[in-house]
Amino acid sequence: MSKVEKILITGSNGLLGQKIVYNLKQREDVDLYATALGENRLIDKTGYTYLSLDVTDLQSVNRVIDDVKPDVIINTAAMTNVDACELNKEKCWKINVDAVKYLVNASIKYDAHFIHLSTDFVFDGESGPYVETDEPNPLHYYAESKLASEKIVSETSSNYAILRTIIIYGITDNMSRSNLVLWSKGEIEKGNTIRVVNDQYRSPTLAEDLAEGCISVADKNAQGIYHLSGPETNSILELVYKVADYYNLDKSKIIPVTSESLNQPAKRPLKTGFIIEKAKKELNFNPRNFEKGIKFLEKQMNN
Ligand SMILES: NC(=O)c1ccc[n+]([C@@H]2O[C@H](COP(=O)([O-])OP(=O)(O)OC[C@H]3O[C@@H](n4cnc5c(N)ncnc54)[C@H](OP(=O)(O)O)[C@@H]3O)[C@@H](O)[C@H]2O)c1
Repeated sequence: MSKVEKILITGSNGLLGQKIVYNLKQREDVDLYATALGENRLIDKTGYTYLSLDVTDLQSVNRVIDDVKPDVIINTAAMTNVDACELNKEKCWKINVDAVKYLVNASIKYDAHFIHLSTDFVFDGESGPYVETDEPNPLHYYAESKLASEKIVSETSSNYAILRTIIIYGITDNMSRSNLVLWSKGEIEKGNTIRVVNDQYRSPTLAEDLAEGCISVADKNAQGIYHLSGPETNSILELVYKVADYYNLDKSKIIPVTSESLNQPAKRPLKTGFIIEKAKKELNFNPRNFEKGIKFLEKQMNN
């Protein structure tokens, strides 16, 4: 970006949203607008403008976008709890699909570059790791909603990028939900046993790396679909063992189980994972592996 660009983030209180704000607020070539539900939960409130925005409220979406007239919108807002989506389909559709329609329609007026976050769960997990051109086949409602949102973005906008990612982990201010690393570490440290699936494979993604990927997409005005995840695919059980190894935790607290035995409302795909060659080549995306990601996280926790 050579001129000052206006970038608007939705869901800026979320894990990814916060990392993008903390990264971009440093830049002199960006006029940054962070938007989220209710109050700003970031501790550092300098270097950007915060606007409260419920993305499911059409009038508010139009008002905020008409006021800001952004060059770029990064849409991280979503209902991300997969089982909650299965149990409250109406709410899920409103946030994950209807709101995307409002945002992308509003963005068109200003020819804003619309950068939308999606998920590995659009795939059925039969033949991962996946490339961008593989055929989606969602297994649950959250996945259906995200695939529907992808379709809206690609059919409505002619200036868009869809960024699919997998298990985001990291730590940030006043978090509304946990993630694999914090959950497994926290539970074992409390002396609890945890049941961890041994038949689901994922490429976990450090939130800072994903934020950099999103920003690179904005800087390069990249178009189309990109897979942005960590570089390695492991079973979730292997990942939790890695967390336990790193923090020297009692591994006997980790009980391997199959997905089926958990009986979760939303059926998870078994083997996803991404091939990220396109993002490496076109975006210079260079994510840390899981061990380096945990190490990076530990430094933040000790600060
Ligand atoms: N987390 C993962 O492992 C993962 C994996 C694959 C894809 N993704 C995708 O990546 C994106 C970012 O995920 P994330 O981990 O940063 O999720 P997150 O921490 O749950 O953040 C999502 C944010 O959206 C906000 N939100 C919910 N409803 C809203 C509304 N009506 N208006 C405005 N904001 C609203 C939430 O607000 P509150 O905090 O107030 O609830 C939350 O802060 C999402 O699109 C998600 O689908 C995530």
